Amino acid sequence: MRHLIDIKDLSIEEINALISVAKDIIQNKEKYQRKCQGKKLATLFYEPSTRTRLSFEAAMIELGGNVLGFSSSNSSSAQKGESVGDTVRVVGGYADIIAMRHPKEGAALVAAMKSEVPIINAGDGGHNHPTQTLTDLLTIQCEKGRLSNLTIGICGDLKFGRTVHSLITAMSRYKNIKFVLISPEELKIPDYIKKDILEKNNIEYLETNSLEEYMDKLDILYMTRVQRERFFNEEDYIRLKDYYILNKEKLISAKKDLCIMHPLPRVNEIATEVDDDPRAAYFKQAKYGKYIRMALILNLLEEKHVQKYHPELPEKLVNVIKCKNPRCITSIEQELPHICVLADKENKIYRCKYCEEKIDKGE
Ligand code: CP
Repeated sequence: MRHLIDIKDLSIEEINALISVAKDIIQNKEKYQRKCQGKKLATLFYEPSTRTRLSFEAAMIELGGNVLGFSSSNSSSAQKGESVGDTVRVVGGYADIIAMRHPKEGAALVAAMKSEVPIINAGDGGHNHPTQTLTDLLTIQCEKGRLSNLTIGICGDLKFGRTVHSLITAMSRYKNIKFVLISPEELKIPDYIKKDILEKNNIEYLETNSLEEYMDKLDILYMTRVQRERFFNEEDYIRLKDYYILNKEKLISAKKDLCIMHPLPRVNEIATEVDDDPRAAYFKQAKYGKYIRMALILNLLEEKHVQKYHPELPEKLVNVIKCKNPRCITSIEQELPHICVLADKENKIYRCKYCEEKIDKGE
């Protein structure tokens, strides 16, 4: 049994294999119509969603399986205080596989630690969204014909945009990838992505607050929404929400074969006048999401997987230092052990196992 919590759980070969299966599904839909007959997918969504939940459900239905679940925490026993661990233990008795979205970082990992059926992280707070990344990679492969030799501009909320974190992590494993990270100062990419992913892997990147400055260099422009739900202060959100609005004028210097992506939902950050531009790929991207999720469900339901997920970490501290991140799952589930792992031996940097926030041992 295997889970998908972080895009790092998949090797590059496994990602490429999923993309191949998704492309085959697009070409030969009828071949897959009964592959999941008799199987059930549970979608446990503690947070709103249109694309992820419905594409997961459409994926399972198109594979011949059935779906059950809830689309808000209000309609589940989370409202009565039930923990994530108890919920997945129970739902594992009703379904063969679970896709879960939760507002707290690390919630999907907690689910995986307790579940007896495969867990798919469908978004954990501002942390990770690996199936969006698989969607993005399939989109890039289909629209650009390659996953290497690309300059990728990522614009908007790079701090709380979980799709951004997973995308950078995944694309950093392909050859000759350069990133242009475009954000206001307050929404810059988190430290752990810069240090542990970009710098550790010698990936070329630059940070700017200008959307236009490097437009002519980009092969892909990945726009993102300012994540209103992650702000503790509404005034900050209002000040930052319209910082970037991509319109036709801003695309004047862009390459003819630029691929414009967005995980959606869009608020204001792409003007609707861009939708008819042949370079706009974001609605196609949402459709690719169903096919890659079909490939993923098939893969995770295969019996051959052995549990190779999150092995015992040799360098860890349990209940010695508490994670103070208010967005971490440990902030609401008091029974969870606080686990810090040594993320960087050389610089003695510890991170929370659930949310990956840096933990100062001196605290
Ligand atoms: N891209 C994405 O995750 O969309 P939803 O929030 O609608 O699922």
